[in-house]
Amino acid sequence: MCGIVGVLGNHEVAPTLVEALKRLEYRGYDSAGIATVQDGKLDRRRAVGKLVNLSDALVHDPLPGKSGIGHTRWATHGQPTVSNAHPHTAGRVAVVHNGIIENYRELRDRLRHREFTSQTDTETVAQLCEEFMDQGLSPRDAAAETLNHLEGAYALAFLFDGEEDLIVAARKGSPLAIGHGEGEMFVGSDAIALGPLTDRITYLEEGDYAFVTRQGVEIRDAEGRLANRETRSIPMQAASLDKGGHKHFMAKEIFEQPVVLSDCLSQYSDDGQVTLLEGLDFTETDRVSMVACGTAHYACAVAKYWFEQLAGLPCDVDIASEFRYREGPVSPASTAIFVSQSGETADTLAALRYVQEKAANVVAVVNVPESSIARESDVIVPILAGVEVGVASTKAFMNQLGTLAHLAIMAARQRGRIDAERERELLNVLRGLPGLINLALAQEEAIMRRTAKLAEARSVLFLGRGAMFPLAMEGALKLKEISYIHAEGYASGELKHGPIALIDKSVPVIVMAPKDALFDKTISNMQEVMARDGKVWLITDADGAAEAGDGTWDTLVMPRIDPVFAPLLYAVPAQLIAYHTALHKGTDVDQPRNLAKSVTVE
Ligand code: G6P
Repeated sequence: MCGIVGVLGNHEVAPTLVEALKRLEYRGYDSAGIATVQDGKLDRRRAVGKLVNLSDALVHDPLPGKSGIGHTRWATHGQPTVSNAHPHTAGRVAVVHNGIIENYRELRDRLRHREFTSQTDTETVAQLCEEFMDQGLSPRDAAAETLNHLEGAYALAFLFDGEEDLIVAARKGSPLAIGHGEGEMFVGSDAIALGPLTDRITYLEEGDYAFVTRQGVEIRDAEGRLANRETRSIPMQAASLDKGGHKHFMAKEIFEQPVVLSDCLSQYSDDGQVTLLEGLDFTETDRVSMVACGTAHYACAVAKYWFEQLAGLPCDVDIASEFRYREGPVSPASTAIFVSQSGETADTLAALRYVQEKAANVVAVVNVPESSIARESDVIVPILAGVEVGVASTKAFMNQLGTLAHLAIMAARQRGRIDAERERELLNVLRGLPGLINLALAQEEAIMRRTAKLAEARSVLFLGRGAMFPLAMEGALKLKEISYIHAEGYASGELKHGPIALIDKSVPVIVMAPKDALFDKTISNMQEVMARDGKVWLITDADGAAEAGDGTWDTLVMPRIDPVFAPLLYAVPAQLIAYHTALHKGTDVDQPRNLAKSVTVE
């Protein structure tokens, strides 16, 4: 969602704020703004659209000051206009906010004697704070009192007229990090934003608020008591935030997959055995319940096949926003696994809190080990993908699959469903994957040629069977996210129960089918498409191509792989198809319209 930054610096702060916002732009990019206090006076600049518009505005109309806050927005309340862009001010107060103030209507009503200039929920925070200052409270007390009246989720940073050495920061439901410099202090939505500025980070806990000055930080808990929070050294993220010679972060991240998957494999296996993850024991587990959103949800849907087929464990997979309100029964002997790249997705976090006291074990499979989902789980299993910037998730999906595969193998072994020999075999298949992924990446040219035509389609279907079915859904999600072409993923066997009505020569059908035990059945479904003039793009291996590659619109040949882990390999063409189709269409690959990387609102 929105990105927040704050700096109490020793130099002009506007360039630092913009630079930090650039690193947060993956969180939202509808509009951006900064506010500073200079000679005791608050002032701000805001611009609609990408951050570059704000930088341009600052060239013509610079904003002096050594203390400031900044924001990049993903609109919730009110359209992306200048007046709805943050920072929001009310007289002597400026505020930036990530999250949703749920009781903002009530607050606005209470403050109706004041003049509002935006449609946002956030402005009520600034107005309320100034109202308390009008009643005689100091900026610190007014901000603290304001927090007592807010319902919903927020990360907030306040800046005040006449206070050049104070930012008040607060966290409830959305993370906020405090960065420690030399005579300078920083506030940021995450450590990534603060990477070039400092690696010494204190994370606020739920309900905390903080008075930040150049000398340090005073943190108070939700009850107003002084709180001691650990300051940690978080490795500098600076280096990883360039495109490494690629045109887009997404391309860089797709091509990083052999390396990041290798990192994950060497972390979780050694000498033909899964290296036991402390605190994880599936022996007594009666059910695995996996919950996630978006791409992470499809990773769970693939892993369901592994937990069921390898470990013989019944496995439910849920979309977090549905799971949390369904109030389904949770077996006390179950293991609940929450998968999230960011570790901050609001629905996934809420679902986790729902099972917390109910399941035997709560496991976080996350890319950010300091995230809220990680911190509230019994066991943290980092996927080790490194920072992912492209909004459409690629390498995180790969490593979610890699990590979940290890968990499933471990569960199978602990439950006596496979022996040491089979464990070694399965791990060998995984070990071979980085090399095979490199071969799949080498198919980029062939994919590029076909996507020139695919980009003309208005609608595309993806088909798969078994564990390739969720991959078909992920392929469709990738395509619609970044090329804006309508796409759906279906189980091949389901085609004739509805979607076949869509088939004509204008609807390409991408069939993801390694030569496995279900291949012939999938090919029958493919023939049904071709018999109706449908254009089939078959993605298979050499055996599959030899058997069924004739008469297709195109056939892409993947390396051979043991079908059990084929989804990891076939994710690569699915990602490259989406990427190159988007390039042909000229859409904004890394920051597709309406989306954000980390969704911290319901
Ligand atoms: C957003 C992103 C998706 C992501 C989903 C879940 O919608 O655009 O790419 O899959 O959130 O995010 P998470 O961080 O929980 O994996």
